Amino acid sequence: MKLKAINGFKDILPDQVLRWQQVEQTARDIFERFGMREIRMPILEKTELFFRSIGEATDIVEKEMYSFPDKGITMRPEATASLLRAFIEHGLHVQQPVQRLYTIGPMFRHERPQKGRLRQFHQMDVEVIGATEPQVDAELMAMGQMLLNALGLKVSLEINSLGCPDCRPAFRTRLIEYLKERKDDLCEDCRRRLSVNPLRTLDCKSRGCRALVQEAPSILDSLCSECNEHFAGVEHTLELLGVTYTKNRFMVRGLDYYTRTTFEFITGDLGAQAAVGAGGRYDGLIEQLGGPKLPGIGFAMGMERIVLLMEQQAESSIIKPAADIFVAALGDKAAEYGCVLVQNLRALQLKAAMDYSGRSLKAQMKQAGRINSRFTLIVGDNELTEGKAVLRNMQTQEQETFALDGTINEQAGRLFSTIIPTSIEVDGIKMK
Ligand code: HAM
Repeated sequence: MKLKAINGFKDILPDQVLRWQQVEQTARDIFERFGMREIRMPILEKTELFFRSIGEATDIVEKEMYSFPDKGITMRPEATASLLRAFIEHGLHVQQPVQRLYTIGPMFRHERPQKGRLRQFHQMDVEVIGATEPQVDAELMAMGQMLLNALGLKVSLEINSLGCPDCRPAFRTRLIEYLKERKDDLCEDCRRRLSVNPLRTLDCKSRGCRALVQEAPSILDSLCSECNEHFAGVEHTLELLGVTYTKNRFMVRGLDYYTRTTFEFITGDLGAQAAVGAGGRYDGLIEQLGGPKLPGIGFAMGMERIVLLMEQQAESSIIKPAADIFVAALGDKAAEYGCVLVQNLRALQLKAAMDYSGRSLKAQMKQAGRINSRFTLIVGDNELTEGKAVLRNMQTQEQETFALDGTINEQAGRLFSTIIPTSIEVDGIKMK
């Protein structure tokens, strides 16, 4: 039987990795412009952490976690809970009143795999802890939008407010009353949700429920004055920053920890997997996890979905990195010389390659082409005795004799200055 990766777990092959690196580097660059510092947490956490944060009645905790019950541990299904656990454990709030943190890595959820939905997927997660101001919410959304724009993606932003422990219970009661009167028209899942998690009916995908909730009471009409003011502040700042958004009162999110602002970056180009990124505020969560009474807000982008979307939407193509020089050696002595030379070239920070299998010159030149090498140094046993080799520019096909004078180290140095231009000319002006 052929061994294969597990369903929902994917290899990211070298050609695809280029795009992943582009996404990751762009994200790091933008996050750091916004004062974010990286934090890395372990993949395994105590199961209890997710019970107490994401919530026991959520799909993630009820049926999607990869847990080892005998050990009481779980592979993280998201990053926020782990990041807050680390934040509390190491007392990071003592260092700085507002912490801006980000992390990038794999998450695990036992969902039904499909396009853009995996069992191991990667998130770029950002959290700002210790700030309650609506400007921070808007700034985070603007940062997400800046990242998506920088990657050449067109994605829309939807926002909502889920209120706070003061105003949400009243809305919940109103919603339950409304739904109970129409119970027979709800799907089976939503009938069950009615008592455990009634807000989830608002984003149920079944057509019947979708039609039914159109007339349901709106959470945005049930906010207390503080939540209303906060939401107005978020909208005002988004407008100041020129971030386009729409309000979506049906957005409830699949994790229980949210309060007030929630938001999603949405695309119509990935079928059912519309959310490229999502997040929101969680003002009571840190305290609930045994930490100080601090507010927080964050979001996570799904990297698989971003990469898929780039393949579909983005115009820029990936430029394959080129090797600087390939050493084509013919004969045993030349091969030995080449082996030492490439090592010296690499020490000078050049990307140098060589083929040790002693194949024909033609085969070696083919290999140089395959790795997209800019130059090839051709050296045979005879040339070695005569103290000269041939340096070929693979783009122009021009060849020149390269004298093998001095030590190998010196030769590597001369090769370096021959193939790396020390100055470039811009508009007739020489630049170093
Ligand atoms: P989430 O909505 O569960 O939120 O996930 C955030 C993003 O991760 C989604 O919008 C999606 O792009 C990606 N994602 C989720 N599940 C999968 C999957 N099975 N396959 C591929 N991509 C997936 C959270 O995880 C929150 N922790 C976000 C947050 C941070 N809230 C506050 N801070």
